[in-house]
Amino acid sequence: MTDVLPTTALSEIKLRLLCHDDIERIKVLCGEWFPIEYPDSWYHDITSNKKFFSLAATYRGGIVGMIVAEIKSRTKVHKEYYPSKPPVLLTQQSAYIFIHQDGDILASSFPVETQVAYILSLGVVKEFRKHGVGSLLLDSLKEHISTTAQDHCKAIYLHVLTTNNTAIHFYENRDFKQHHYLPYYYSIRGVLKDGFTYVLYINGGHPPWTIFDYIHHIGSALASLSPCSIPQRIYRQAQNLLRSFLPWSGISSKSGIEYSRTMWRRLIFLGHIRCLGC
Ligand SMILES: CC(C)(COP(=O)(O)OP(=O)(O)OC[C@H]1O[C@@H](n2cnc3c(N)ncnc32)[C@H](O)[C@@H]1OP(=O)(O)O)[C@@H](O)C(=O)NCCC(=O)NCCS
Repeated sequence: MTDVLPTTALSEIKLRLLCHDDIERIKVLCGEWFPIEYPDSWYHDITSNKKFFSLAATYRGGIVGMIVAEIKSRTKVHKEYYPSKPPVLLTQQSAYIFIHQDGDILASSFPVETQVAYILSLGVVKEFRKHGVGSLLLDSLKEHISTTAQDHCKAIYLHVLTTNNTAIHFYENRDFKQHHYLPYYYSIRGVLKDGFTYVLYINGGHPPWTIFDYIHHIGSALASLSPCSIPQRIYRQAQNLLRSFLPWSGISSKSGIEYSRTMWRRLIFLGHIRCLGC
């Protein structure tokens, strides 16, 4: 692959779905990008199983980036690991991902048919990084979600090594938020490494409420009551009460202050209450 890219490189990038013939090339690329060794069945699945959205970015015919994602029901969130068991043929040089429950990505108030998208893989060839290819692939996934899942998909999430600062920076700059810290989530060449779950909420998706959310919500609700208007409300209630006791007063339509003065005068005059010199 060329070392010095023309500034117009992005305009020459084309997108297409991955296919079976790409397997050997993407094995090499994933080997360069990730410390994780995927089994052959993984490559077979992402290039043939329609449940995966597997998109390649190509430059002059060669693959320079790819994104692999799965859109699934929120009830299947804990099954993001593929395959369902760690690879059996692990060597000292290989790594695998521990299965982790990320079931609380969405609040349980969302219906079971609500969907989420899990990014299994996103990578760009080194010489092509910082040219917009990663953003193009991520935007294409969002576009795919909006056309296929429409607004039923409420979150896009992924896992990343805590030490992968470039990727963390990339996702955070695109509004992904850290959701979980996952101690010992990865096993890389026999060494346990920590991970993060990052989530981007879309279409009104949100995580379960925490105690701080409840406090914030109650605070906002109280603020919307306009505390300064409370004396006025009490006054109106008292006014209604008096009106029901004194139906003959005929002063229901008077404005607050005028009504108040009239009412006080009448009450004093009638001797119902004593003026205390106010
Ligand atoms: C993370 C990764 C996919 C990003 O891909 P990328 O192609 O470099 O992404 P982009 O070019 O769209 O964006 C990267 C940065 O380059 C900047 N950029 C884009 N085009 C640019 C240009 N023409 N000139 C200068 N900077 C540019 C972007 O603004 C962005 O910076 P920002 O995040 O501060 O906004 C890539 O670094 C990678 O493949 N890493 C290894 C694999 C990996 O870790 N994957 C993630 C696993 S979870």
